[in-house]
Amino acid sequence: MTTEFSPVRGVRDIVAEPSARPESIAADAVVVFLTEGGVGTGAIADLDRAVGGVIARLVGAGEITGKRYECVPILAPAGLQAGQIVVVGLGKREEVDAGTLYKSAATAARQLSGRPRSAVAFVADGFWTTRQIEQAVAGAAMGMVGQDLYRSDKKRTRFGKTIWLGAPVEAVERGAIVADGVNLARRLVNMPPDDLYPQTFAEEAAAVAGRTGMEIDIWDEVHLARERCNAMLAVGRGSTRPPRLVILRYRGPGGSDAAPDLALVGKGVTFDSGGLSLKPSDSMLTMKCDMAGGAAMLAAAATIAALKLPVNLVAAVGLVENMTGPAAYKLGDVITARSGTTIEVHNTDAEGRVVLADVLDVVRGLKPRRIVDAATLTGACMVALGYDVAGLFSNDQAWCDAVAAAARSVGEPVWQLPMYPDYDDQIKSEVADIKNVGEGRWGGAITAAKFLERFVGGIPWTHIDIAGPSFAEKPRPWIDGGGTGCMVRAMVELARGQ
Ligand code: BES
Ligand code: MN
Ligand code: ZN
Repeated sequence: MTTEFSPVRGVRDIVAEPSARPESIAADAVVVFLTEGGVGTGAIADLDRAVGGVIARLVGAGEITGKRYECVPILAPAGLQAGQIVVVGLGKREEVDAGTLYKSAATAARQLSGRPRSAVAFVADGFWTTRQIEQAVAGAAMGMVGQDLYRSDKKRTRFGKTIWLGAPVEAVERGAIVADGVNLARRLVNMPPDDLYPQTFAEEAAAVAGRTGMEIDIWDEVHLARERCNAMLAVGRGSTRPPRLVILRYRGPGGSDAAPDLALVGKGVTFDSGGLSLKPSDSMLTMKCDMAGGAAMLAAAATIAALKLPVNLVAAVGLVENMTGPAAYKLGDVITARSGTTIEVHNTDAEGRVVLADVLDVVRGLKPRRIVDAATLTGACMVALGYDVAGLFSNDQAWCDAVAAAARSVGEPVWQLPMYPDYDDQIKSEVADIKNVGEGRWGGAITAAKFLERFVGGIPWTHIDIAGPSFAEKPRPWIDGGGTGCMVRAMVELARGQ
């Protein structure tokens, strides 16, 4: 079983050899990166010289183009200790950024991990920044992990050893830690809902907290009732598996007992059947992914703690299974959320916002300076932005800009949607303070965000709707299908800026 952030594995099987020469490295393969401009100068030119110009010849013949995510193996080249070179395309040199490097390194790792490899070397180029090297290291460690935890014959095997040439030791160590976070989030998303439910997610969180030195509180259903978390409890009532609220705390070096700088909040619906507003089978199939926001925030908090970033952090994940059991919450029910706000239920499939109502209220009580939440909240956000781009919604433009900048700097695309006050009218209810859906389906991602806004008590807050990017229904060049670990790297970057 994979144990991310384990003191045994992790940093040790991914190492830096800042000044070793690629031609004399004993490895199964040497991965080198090429931009569309040709071999030119830099790391790939040095390697090309050592192997008698074979790369430049293949580029000249048009066999290798350097186009983004192209991955060409050159088997048994003369002059090389390793058995093969893999040339990975980076696209246009002026467009290379941290995201390109993450995905390109992942593409090569994914391809090579199709069979066992005792060691694979990657050559970092001199024109990459330290931050970019970190993302490349993270990508390589992500790409060699798939979604076959439950398969008898594994599609991917982790390299025995990953060696980064031309990369500073600290950047490689940090990249490996970031990959642990991304892979943790992916593993949790990929776990079947009968194995990962509120209690077992909380147990996973406790184990991760133990390995990374975070404090953890787990509220069970009795504690939730005592805390008047009626909204979370209402959504959970249709399931035999009771809800849990996980609260993690991390104080960075030099941090005080003062209020948190940052609160990370995640939707942790471990399975979303839709409840009595039942989903059709096709839409339900992937609904084990509905805890991806919670997994991302747990994994981001763990990564931030493992990196010992100087930030005072709290993370909260609301864990519920949305089912249709005899006690299930019903259409027309009115729930008094923890904040006192009453919610009329118009659709039990709009459960994420109901769960987050209580989680955000608990977090608001801890008085963090800023809140960010990640949630697989609406299909409407996917209608607006597609699979790859997350939606941003905020009550504070400066905070939203900071979240967007952090996400984009690591290559996680986001796009802000408006929060005009007129949308508030859509969630007014005749019988309660608000209802849990808007008027009709138009603008559904925004009305969901407007609902959440009611529970943050004016604290600067940004909501990230990750319904699209959190789960890949089909494999991509850089990642197997399944959980993507989206927003883990973005949140780590965000914490760095705090
Ligand atoms: N978990 C879903 C949103 C979702 C859809 C996530 C597709 C990932 C992929 C959420 O709980 C939901 O069902 N939302 C409804 C809201 C509607 C009933 C107002 C939706 O988007 O259809
Ligand atoms: Mn739902
Ligand atoms: Zn849901």
